[in-house]
Amino acid sequence: MFRVTVDGASRPAYPGQTVAAVLLTAGRVSWRTTRGAGRPRGLFCGIGVCHDCLVTVNGLADVRACQREARPGDDIRTGEGAGGTA
Ligand code: FES
Repeated sequence: MFRVTVDGASRPAYPGQTVAAVLLTAGRVSWRTTRGAGRPRGLFCGIGVCHDCLVTVNGLADVRACQREARPGDDIRTGEGAGGTA
């Protein structure tokens, strides 16, 4: 187990766990909204196709949370970049 930061809060993560899994275990079912209609989005396809799960990781915007493995010390931010507000 190691720690990451999700929107400023320290959270546990485990080797092999995706950023999306870290967010889900933090109780987040949506973490951004669509640009036009403001509809909630989070994990949908889980295989990197839909881009509904975008987050910012260590300052890099528009990372697909379902494809990015969490790493020790990651700074995960939601509601930034093309992801819009959560
Ligand atoms: S959930 Fe579809 S790309 Fe991540």
